[in-house]
Amino acid sequence: MSITILGIESSCDDTSSSVIRDGVMLSNVIASQAVHEAYGGVVPELASRAHQQNIIPVVSEAIKRAGIDKSELDAIAFTRGPGLLGSLLVGTSFAKGFAASLGIPMIEVNHLQAHVLAHFIKESPDDNHAPSFPFLCLLVSGGNSQIIKVNAYNDMEVIGQTIDDAAGEAFDKCAKVMGLGYPGGPVVNRLANEGNPKAFSFSKPHIPGYDYSFSGLKTSFLYTLRDALKDDPDFIEKNKRDLCASLQATVIDILMTKLRKAAKDLGIREVAVAGGVSANSGLRDAFLDHAKRFGWKVHIPKFSFTTDNAAMVAITGYYKYQDKEFCPMSAAPFSRVQI
Ligand code: KG4
Repeated sequence: MSITILGIESSCDDTSSSVIRDGVMLSNVIASQAVHEAYGGVVPELASRAHQQNIIPVVSEAIKRAGIDKSELDAIAFTRGPGLLGSLLVGTSFAKGFAASLGIPMIEVNHLQAHVLAHFIKESPDDNHAPSFPFLCLLVSGGNSQIIKVNAYNDMEVIGQTIDDAAGEAFDKCAKVMGLGYPGGPVVNRLANEGNPKAFSFSKPHIPGYDYSFSGLKTSFLYTLRDALKDDPDFIEKNKRDLCASLQATVIDILMTKLRKAAKDLGIREVAVAGGVSANSGLRDAFLDHAKRFGWKVHIPKFSFTTDNAAMVAITGYYKYQDKEFCPMSAAPFSRVQI
């Protein structure tokens, strides 16, 4: 018997809905919110309002593009957290109303778990690219930097995480001080491609285990700019390519050093990357390089699955449906929640 899941994602500033049938994606519609660009970051109240405006058209479009009727849905999967509370409330409340009107169950989804399970989305029935268990997943986004040991769809263990800033935050904050706009990660990436990664050196953390830290790098980057600007007010403009390339190389080195250690210690060679920062071309190249050097089998998501999307919510819902993991109508969102 076929299982058809509608996914809803509204944790931050993307309103998204997707239909997945038997693990195969039939549609994935994303409405991004340009309104935040002018403010240099996501404004929670504006995000909630934009979700309210977008949610019905986005869900209708996802069902239409999937070529199904809403009566064919078996369950509604929605992101319960972590994320911005006002944003999550929109998706959660919509999921409740829609599930109640169709008389079908609701499935709560952890946004971080969904990023990991994005690797299991099939784009056609014979798509067999998924990782095999156990594998390690480096989850890097604007809010998280974690190494996760994935034992099964429903069994994930965070073995390392940032003790302060996330990798995406390091990109965004350093980009902001260079006046490169928001979100800074993609701009840094673009400029880094034209710069020298060895031009500047920034401090790297020395913390035990598999944990990360990016606040020292951010401070070291700021001090480099502050000192150089005293002598040359045009320092940033003249050196932005090299600054971006050196920053990006440092972030990647920090990420890969701990990931390599985890892979070696645990004897796991199947390694995936997920989250917004996995769009970074330098990080993608580092994964490919590690595949060659250390015999890793690497899993790098398609660009459309690196940012927030509902297909990853729907695929998580699909596996939870098989375990009959439904949630009550009283489910309220969580702004903070671990895997
Ligand atoms: O997972 P995501 O879409 O959502 C949040 O965690 O909010 O990740 C967004 C983060 C931002 O910090 C953004 O600057 C970063 O991912 N990012 C990148 C690139 N594309 C997005 N960082 C570096 N290089 C990129 N190409």
